[in-house]
Amino acid sequence: MAIDEAKLNEFLGKAVGDLGAAVSATLVLVGDRLGLYRALAAESLTSEELAAKTSTSERYVREWLGNQGAAGYVEFDPDTGTWSMSPEQAACLADPSGPVDMPGAYNIVEATFHALAHTLDNFKSGAGMEWGEHHPCLFEGTERFFRAGYNTNLIGAWLPALDGVVDKLARGAKVADVGCGHGASTILMALTYPDSEFVGYDYHDESIGVATEKAAAAGATNARFEVADAVGYAGKDFVILRRQPPAAGEYAPFFREVEVRTIALGGGIYHAVLGRDFRYEPYRAEVLAVIKERFYRIPRGLPVLRCYFFERYFAQ
Ligand SMILES: C[S@@+](CC[C@H](N)C(=O)[O-])C[C@H]1O[C@@H](n2cnc3c(N)ncnc32)[C@H](O)[C@@H]1O
Repeated sequence: MAIDEAKLNEFLGKAVGDLGAAVSATLVLVGDRLGLYRALAAESLTSEELAAKTSTSERYVREWLGNQGAAGYVEFDPDTGTWSMSPEQAACLADPSGPVDMPGAYNIVEATFHALAHTLDNFKSGAGMEWGEHHPCLFEGTERFFRAGYNTNLIGAWLPALDGVVDKLARGAKVADVGCGHGASTILMALTYPDSEFVGYDYHDESIGVATEKAAAAGATNARFEVADAVGYAGKDFVILRRQPPAAGEYAPFFREVEVRTIALGGGIYHAVLGRDFRYEPYRAEVLAVIKERFYRIPRGLPVLRCYFFERYFAQ
């Protein structure tokens, strides 16, 4: 196939630029974890001064500064031989409690490499990956990157956009933060609205442990955290709408209490089954297990890949 040289150069220009950014990703993490950004954001420094302040090797710091300067992440003054950061660079790179936490997001980039082997398997098998199977840097990165967004928007813009919610929170409400992770949003809301009670739920128990510690450290006494699966149904109330009336006792094994009402709607008659306090285990044993038997009996000899239904309901 003929190669168009102009198009080749255009493509390579872009691809090599992307490669440079990808290779420099580790150096953003270095700047964050060794405190290089924070030190530079505070004052202009030579490479020797920066190394001394951060207990690092000047030889490496000098190269890091060259990389970061070329990328436009720090500034160099040739007259004084010092490096510095503009207020904008500092806001994005050196302030984890500010409105943008770019290095926080690089923890997420790091997590994608930790997941590479698993990702390759998934592409072949079609299976998925649980949140908790990732490297912890994903949880840390998500907390940091999302927290910056919450710092800027949650209290001042997002909650006021919901009708009446701010008034309720100020008066005292009960709030569930579902999929709370490390609890960044839960803790921020709890500190802002001390008369409300906040419960963060997440199915990843390690995240719930971290959230609990962070809430205690922040003094958010009105926030607590529980391990819970948002798609778990046990204990919930349900309304099941049917065209045919249910058989007597049909739903009794699955709820603590069942009430059936007849509803006339749009010229038709419907039957509403009001089930209170769902009992998941009998439902799993009597309904899901039957589905499993009927539809998932894979003939011997056929290749068996991972199956969402099995993993979700019959993992143990
Ligand atoms: C993208 S993270 C966001 C975490 C947190 N809200 C934050 O802003 O930092 C999504 C979170 O949802 C949780 N999650 C996913 N599926 C869940 C489920 N079915 N039940 C409860 N938590 C779930 C994950 O464990 C993870 O902590």
